[in-house]
Amino acid sequence: MSHSIVVRPATADDLPVLQELHAALCAAERASGYDDNADTNFAASPSGQAYLLARIDGDGLALVAHDGTVPVGYLVAGVRSGPRGAVSGLESMFVTPACRRRGIGTALLEQFLIWHRSSGLPSASLAVAPGNHAAIALYEKAGFRGTTLVLELASPARAHNSEA
Ligand SMILES: CC(C)(COP(=O)(O)OP(=O)(O)OC[C@H]1O[C@@H](n2cnc3c(N)ncnc32)[C@H](O)[C@@H]1OP(=O)(O)O)[C@@H](O)C(=O)NCCC(=O)NCCS
Repeated sequence: MSHSIVVRPATADDLPVLQELHAALCAAERASGYDDNADTNFAASPSGQAYLLARIDGDGLALVAHDGTVPVGYLVAGVRSGPRGAVSGLESMFVTPACRRRGIGTALLEQFLIWHRSSGLPSASLAVAPGNHAAIALYEKAGFRGTTLVLELASPARAHNSEA
């Protein structure tokens, strides 16, 4: 990774950056067809802001990556309940398109894994669209392996909305 890239815990001053990058992730998820319900307005909403601030304040993990002064990526994680108890959950991450394949995703993921190991929780997990080969390759390189395959059937209302 280039020396100009810095990954660090986010502070409250980084909230607008996290909101912008979270919205960019949701827009990308919708555009790629990975998640037709990704809410581009969530991060700017009161509940989205409260969620991100809680992660920043230590109820989980919030990281930002900068290239010099330019924000180029983020990662947010929290503890969540799985079928076998609490796990470290990687909730979302995004690297700006122009800065990909420079090791920023790997650097964000490494910090997540350090946080996970310090948590003492037995496992870390995340959800990823099966067609998202870039993210899957990144996660598999770090040792993640697929376990449960979740299948969804869109309700008639959701199927109708996604055609709009
Ligand atoms: C997934 C994502 C975070 C990867 O970020 P990145 O900074 O490009 O990742 P890195 O440069 O650290 O890549 C590490 C490895 O992941 C794999 N990888 C990353 N992008 C890839 C791609 N487009 N195709 C195939 N493998 C890829 C490679 O093995 C790569 O190592 P290499 O460059 O030495 O071959 C980035 O593509 C992204 O933001 N995508 C859109 C949002 C997203 O999918 N988020 C995850 C949702 S679950």
